[in-house]
Amino acid sequence: MKKLFLTFTVVLYVSSIGLFSLDKGYPQDENGGVIIFSKPVKGVYFSHKEHKDFSCEDCHEDIFAEEAGAAEATGNFTMKLMEEGETCGTCHDGETAFSVKESCTKCHIGVLGVKRLKEQLD
Ligand code: HEC
Ligand code: HEC
Ligand code: HEC
Repeated sequence: MKKLFLTFTVVLYVSSIGLFSLDKGYPQDENGGVIIFSKPVKGVYFSHKEHKDFSCEDCHEDIFAEEAGAAEATGNFTMKLMEEGETCGTCHDGETAFSVKESCTKCHIGVLGVKRLKEQLD
């Protein structure tokens, strides 16, 4: 019951604010921030730390604005465009990094994955 309630709370939380950064992110945390995307689907995970081998300019501003929520706001944050090499698919093409056509759950951690992550970061 407690678990069910927590799940429900997390679902509400995620859906009510749409998007949030899980920790302070840049510039407060030099390891970089975690960003959870919620549109169009909930529970998609991106960590700056896991991309620290790149320089900021590899992504900002050509691929992504330095502003959480910008990509979602375009309404074009879709798998189809990623498969065509846009946004995350610029690198996640099966060569530079694992392809967006597989390993769905590496990025799609889901609402429960977000909850676990928040507990780890707290
Ligand atoms: C692999 C790609 C990638 C690299 C490399 C990268 N970022 Fe980001 N960054 C992102 C994405 C994706 C977002 C979220 C953009 C969105 O939601 O539209 C983001 C968002 C941000 C934000 C906004 C966070 C917020 O909560 O609003 C800041 C600040 C930022 N990045 C700084 C940096 C800095 C500084 C570096 C280099 C040390 C860096 N980023 C390297 C992909 C990257
Ligand atoms: C490299 C990370 C990544 C991988 C791998 C990935 N996705 Fe996504 N996916 C995203 C991002 C980012 C979004 C857009 C943000 C959001 O919806 O919260 C998204 C959005 C979606 C959407 C909603 C938009 C649309 O295109 O209809 C679906 C459905 C989806 N993904 C399914 C999948 C499936 C199925 C797989 C595996 C075959 C997969 N994704 C693999 C990152 C990924
Ligand atoms: C500039 C290139 C680049 C971009 C853009 C990029 N990634 Fe990555 N990403 C990588 C590389 C390289 C790795 C590590 C190599 C690998 O795992 O194949 C990685 C690793 C990851 C991992 C870690 C997977 C694991 O469990 O080991 C996740 C999750 C991830 N990326 C999600 C995303 C999402 C979501 C986006 C778009 C918002 C994105 N990435 C955009 C290059 C990129």
